[in-house]
Amino acid sequence: MKLVVIGTGYVGLVSGACFADMGHNVVCVDKVASKIKTLEDGGIPIYEPGLDEVVLRNRKAGRLLFTTSLKDALKDAQAVLLAVGTPTDELSGRADLKYVFAATKEVAENIEKPVVVITKSTVPVGTGAKVLEILHKTRPELLCEVASNPEFLREGSAVQDFMKPDRVIIGAQSEHTKNIMQMLYSKMIGEGTPVLFTNIATAELIKYASNAFLAMKIAYANEVADICEGVGADVDLVIKGMGMDGRIGNKYMQPGPGYGGSCFPKDTMALTHIATDAGHPTKIIEAVINANDLRKENMAKKVISACGGSVKGKEIAVLGLTFKANTDDMRYSPSLVIIPELIKAGAKIRAFDPVGMEEAKKELCNSERDDNLQFCSSTNEALKNSDAAVILTEWQEFKELDLMAAKKLLRELVLVDLRNLLDGNKAVSLGYKYVSIGR
Ligand code: UGA
Repeated sequence: MKLVVIGTGYVGLVSGACFADMGHNVVCVDKVASKIKTLEDGGIPIYEPGLDEVVLRNRKAGRLLFTTSLKDALKDAQAVLLAVGTPTDELSGRADLKYVFAATKEVAENIEKPVVVITKSTVPVGTGAKVLEILHKTRPELLCEVASNPEFLREGSAVQDFMKPDRVIIGAQSEHTKNIMQMLYSKMIGEGTPVLFTNIATAELIKYASNAFLAMKIAYANEVADICEGVGADVDLVIKGMGMDGRIGNKYMQPGPGYGGSCFPKDTMALTHIATDAGHPTKIIEAVINANDLRKENMAKKVISACGGSVKGKEIAVLGLTFKANTDDMRYSPSLVIIPELIKAGAKIRAFDPVGMEEAKKELCNSERDDNLQFCSSTNEALKNSDAAVILTEWQEFKELDLMAAKKLLRELVLVDLRNLLDGNKAVSLGYKYVSIGR
């Protein structure tokens, strides 16, 4: 099949490269010329483990091309995948669809034959119908069709998630569109991947309902962790014990400093609007959003309390800045709340992240706090002469932290582990004051 992918962010680039790997001819289009240049020069504009190999392999095989010209890309295309951004509109808190609609219009203006336009971007329920309306209005003679094919990729393991998904959801309006989608996924279908065909609105809602459910599980685990601290229970074992019940499971039940990233915060918020617009305002999801916001603030309080009730004048090593490990993404990262709160309370921060330093600098640098925020080049540099170390992200490097060696670097042996990464007993036996979550 010839497929055009619009947008070369996480979703677009991973989908484009992986569809090429399944044997399709894919052209990825982006308006940002510098991104296309990087890709054409063999670079990858995002950090995503394993993606470079897939891109390289398929470029060499001639199945994956990059261009800024949508018009050229669309020649002979059978399907167009929309993977443009849907940021939250600051004022309304709703998903901003201007890029989706602009891309649709441009597709309609530049095609010579009918195509199936597939929305892969996470879009509110009803967007597929609007995309169809734009296509029909712009080119009524062509009878284009639409499909909704939500993605369930996690940053950091997006290639694996794409190639071996738990399920593929396809919202389609006709047999023709179903056939095109079946062709697109024929390799996976042949390998036994479960596929669920639905109407378009259903597919759109499956995406939001799934992300909000996962966010709810995490918020619940965080709440259980707090209760554990209050009653002297161990959250690791409570979650383990709960997870042994197949109805509950133990995935997305790891307590931490609050969920972040570009998806859960945005999609939970968007779902509250979808629900309100539908006349059924959500109570649960709003509680999840509020609990998660509060969680991040409470984590700053937890660090302050571990430091004896005040961090005024203290140097604190912050290990990990990205919203989770194996990504350089800083969006809605707990560090963006916790670090400013600690600085406000008088701390000086020595921050380090194995991959996210550049992104972190963009997000965290601010003239009002720069004097109190130092970006370090290694874990050891961050630890040196610090009065406490705080683990915010679960990078492997921090899991393997040499507690013995760290003793020689730290001024005070205070260790706040907000990801429950380390062996607390070992830390205590080495003389650390060790504070973790729900234990
Ligand atoms: C999430 C979903 O997991 C994907 O299925 C979905 O496709 C994606 O959003 C999206 O909508 O595009 P992602 O945001 O990349 O993926 O990250 P996750 O690995 O799901 O983690 C999200 C946040 O939850 C992170 O801050 C992570 O640290 C936190 N988390 C996750 C926990 O605190 N505990 C857990 O047990 C799991």
